[in-house]
Amino acid sequence: MNKITAAITCLHGYVPPDILTNADLEKMVDTSDEWIMTRTGIKERRIQKEPGKATSDMAVEAVNGLLKKRGISAEEIDLIIFATITGDMIFPSSACVLADKIGAKNAWGYDLSAACSGFLFALETGATFIQSGKYKKVVVIGGDKMSSIIDYTDRNTCIIFGDGLGCVLLEPNEEGYGVRDSILKIDGSGRHYLYQKAGGSLKPPTHETIDAREHYVFQDGKTVFKFAVTNMAEVSANIMERNNLTSEDVTWLVPHQANLRIIDATAERMGLGRDKVMINIDHFGNTTNGTLPLLLWEWESKLKKGDNLILSAFGGGFTWGAMYIKWAYDASASAY
Ligand code: UT7
Repeated sequence: MNKITAAITCLHGYVPPDILTNADLEKMVDTSDEWIMTRTGIKERRIQKEPGKATSDMAVEAVNGLLKKRGISAEEIDLIIFATITGDMIFPSSACVLADKIGAKNAWGYDLSAACSGFLFALETGATFIQSGKYKKVVVIGGDKMSSIIDYTDRNTCIIFGDGLGCVLLEPNEEGYGVRDSILKIDGSGRHYLYQKAGGSLKPPTHETIDAREHYVFQDGKTVFKFAVTNMAEVSANIMERNNLTSEDVTWLVPHQANLRIIDATAERMGLGRDKVMINIDHFGNTTNGTLPLLLWEWESKLKKGDNLILSAFGGGFTWGAMYIKWAYDASASAY
C-alpha cells in the first residue's frame, strides 16, 4: 500500500462585509494613505462590526460553505483544528463552539495558538492525524477577529490588522498529493516584541490593565520586521532546497500577509517573480491566522492538480515556518 498523505480536497473562506479604508483611518489617528501604502501595501481591511458576532461566527459561514461545496454533512467531520488568537472566549475552545453551531456531532477538536503561523502549524497537525490512518476528514481553520484586540488609537497597529477566516478539508491521498514537507520553528525569546500584555494568568484583567490599554496588541514593528524578513525568507528557501525545487518548479508562493516588503523579500530569496506570489494584503490587511487560507480561497480557481505550493509564515512568539504542498485538485474541473 502507498504511503498516506494529507491532501486539501476543498476549502472556503469568509470575510465580513464592513470595510475600513486608509481614508477612514486618517480620520481616527495621525496617519496617511501614502504612509500606510508605502510601508505596508495595505489599502483596506474588513471589520466584523455586527454586535454579538465572534470568530466562531465567521467559521460557521466558512465551514458551512466548505461542507456544501464538498457535498458532505457536518457529522462526517472527524476532527476540527481551529487556529486563532481571538477565540470567542478564553475557554472553552472555539472548536467546541463551532462544532455545536454547525452540528459536528462526531468530531473532536481544539484551538491552536501560534499567532500568524497558526494556520501553518494547524495544517501540519491535521496532516499528521490524516497520515496516522485513524482520521479521514479533518477540518483545519485559520482566522481572527483582530478588531476585538486592536487599539484604534494606536497608529502603530491599527493600520495593519483586519478580520477574516478560511478553512480547508484534509483527506487521505495515496498518490502523493497534499502536504509533502514542512519546517516549523518557535523562539519564545521574541515574545516581548509582539503580544497582548494582560488578560492571561501572568497579568489577569484589572482596572489598571484596562486603563493602561494592555488588552490590545502591542508590537515593536521594527524588531518584528527584522526577524520576519530574515526568517521567512530563509525557511522558504530551505524548504525548496530540501525538496530539490527550483524557482521554475514552484507554482505559487503563499506567504503570510504582514507587510508587502516582507513578502517581496521572501519571493526574491526564492527567485520568484510577483506573478507567482499570492497577495491580498491590499484589500484584507493582516488577518493573522486567516491570511493563508484566505489566499488559497481567492486563488482556488487558478490552482491545478500537481501545482507546487510553498506556504510560508512568521508571527508573534516568535513562530515561523514553511510548508511544501502538492496541490490535489483542479478546482475548475473538479466536483468540489
Ligand atoms: O504578522 C505578524 C508579524 N508582523 C510583522 O511581520 C510586522 C513587521 N513590521 C512591520 O511591518 C513594520 O515595522 C510596520 C509596518 C509595523 C512599521 O513600519 P516601519 O517602516 O518599521 O516604521 P517604524 O515603526 O520604524 O516607524 C517609522 C516612523 C516613526 O516615526 P519617527 O520615529 O521616525 O518619527 C513612527 O512613529 O513612522 C511613524 N509611524 C507612522 N506614521 C504614520 C508609525 N506608524 C505610523 C502610521 N502612520 N500608521
